[in-house]
Amino acid sequence: MTGLRTVAKAAFEGADNVFNRAFTPAWNPLYHLGTLGWFFYWITIVSGIYLYIFFDTGINQAYASLEYITNVQWYAGGVMRSLHRYASDALIIVMMLHLTREFVMDRYRGVRWFTWFTGVPLLWLVFACGISGYWMVWDVLAQYIAIASTEWLDSLGIFGQSIARNFLNNDTLSGRFFTLMVFIHIAVPLFMLLVMWIHIQRQRNARVNPPAGLAIGTLGMLLVLSFARPAVSQAPANLDRVPSVMDFDWFYLVAYPLLDTLPGRTMWAIAGGGTLLLVLLPWLPPLRRRATASVDLDNCNGCGRCVDDCPFSAVSLEPRTDDAPFSHEAVVIDNLCTSCGICVGACPTATPFRRTSELVPGIDLPDLAIRELREQTLAATAGLSGNARVMVYGCGHGSRLDPLRGPDVAVMELPCIAMLPPSFIDFVITRNHVDGVFLTGCAAGNCHYRLGIDWTGQRLAGERDPYLRKRVPRERVAECWTGITRNRLLQEELRAFQGRLGMLPPIKRPPRRSPGEQAGEAAEQHA
Ligand code: HEM
Ligand code: SF4
Ligand code: SF4
Repeated sequence: MTGLRTVAKAAFEGADNVFNRAFTPAWNPLYHLGTLGWFFYWITIVSGIYLYIFFDTGINQAYASLEYITNVQWYAGGVMRSLHRYASDALIIVMMLHLTREFVMDRYRGVRWFTWFTGVPLLWLVFACGISGYWMVWDVLAQYIAIASTEWLDSLGIFGQSIARNFLNNDTLSGRFFTLMVFIHIAVPLFMLLVMWIHIQRQRNARVNPPAGLAIGTLGMLLVLSFARPAVSQAPANLDRVPSVMDFDWFYLVAYPLLDTLPGRTMWAIAGGGTLLLVLLPWLPPLRRRATASVDLDNCNGCGRCVDDCPFSAVSLEPRTDDAPFSHEAVVIDNLCTSCGICVGACPTATPFRRTSELVPGIDLPDLAIRELREQTLAATAGLSGNARVMVYGCGHGSRLDPLRGPDVAVMELPCIAMLPPSFIDFVITRNHVDGVFLTGCAAGNCHYRLGIDWTGQRLAGERDPYLRKRVPRERVAECWTGITRNRLLQEELRAFQGRLGMLPPIKRPPRRSPGEQAGEAAEQHA
């Protein structure tokens, strides 16, 4: 399984690299599959509302009203109809890719089960929306869908009378089914919106809109497609004939040929079994969880930075429970915590400039405490030689780190790169433990813990607290986000960085500070 997943992950990252070159990482659609899903949803809602104004729900009127929309009002209604159809197809594509991607990237187990679990009903809802939409057109395709779907429902054996009987001839065809279809086609998308909202509740700063450029480009493509190949109806339904030749929408109707060949109950078993398998996937096998973050009240001043930075809403600020002169304290919600350590990187008390004996931050990871990180950093850098000594901090989800080690390169692996407080970079460079710091991890746009790379970039750029202090020469810090596929590029970038470091003048150690100045620095780090 692990081997297969690594191959699939490499394939995704390979595709990402190609798309990055074509669209730039900021607009890479593969990094925005969830937000594109939202975008296509809104396009179908807006175009659907327009169509509904002109749509007539009767058995004879439905087809005619759509013909009017498509042919007479082609410049507005026709375009809206095409947008409606193509955006729904696009929704299926991005949803399937999104599901596969989250699975392959292993972002669905452990505490992330909830987001996966709430995605599963979305699959059924999207298909119910699309199929009921095709049904409303009442052409030969709709006739085929109506008979195949109702026969499938009949095979459950729970309805008193056969539903399929309604669609076998004109005498039995009832207008009530159209009303029911229209109701389903409106109610299901509304319910879907609720489930989509629940789906992202555990993601802090969840993105629901794609970047403007990607949205405009995608909408433009849909418009071009709508003019080049407008969506049209097929021949009107004719219950005197069994529909045989018709155009098929493979995105929504992919299972229908199977309905023709396999018994209805077998298809229920496949659909039910498949859904159950999807629901249970986060526990097959369950993720081995590491110890979750823990708060040390003596060192927590309730500043809330850990709350702002946790990508999974796993820390909250609660009223103080001790006598400390602060109004709030951080509290970790264990069953939401992924043990990524990003909160530790955000905590102003997690600074190696503090004395080792005091180095217990407000929030810490029991499996890799910040004190250990400091000790391991010092041990790893102690034996380095040369004029381009580098400390590499990398995350365990990116390129292989071991090949980077060398006489002038020390390596430390963290759960997520944003666990590293910027003060560590300051510490190792200004105290002359190394000549430069090199940060690496997942591919840009594909952070395993969602926001780690973004937060790191903002902290280094001075846009997010705690930020890297100005006194750290920026030419001594490098970032390289390569993911698992670009090991060679990582090594080349590191060598190039060392080459640049070798040309810089040696680092001047700051003069020893008086105890008063040291106290001032500690206060600044705590602020
Ligand atoms: C209409 C369909 C869907 C839409 C619009 C949608 C949208 C989204 C969005 C916006 C996010 C948050 C992205 C972020 O900011 O990090 C997300 C995350 C996620 N989705 Fe979906 N989703 C859909 C269907 C599904 C399905 C069918 C599944 C799987 C069964 C799924 C599984 C996940 C998982 C596991 C995550 C969380 C990844 C993480 O923790 O980093 N989604 N989705
Ligand atoms: S960042 Fe640190 S000091 Fe601030 S609330 Fe969180 S644990 Fe407390
Ligand atoms: S370890 Fe990660 S998930 Fe857990 S509280 Fe800290 S930032 Fe949130």
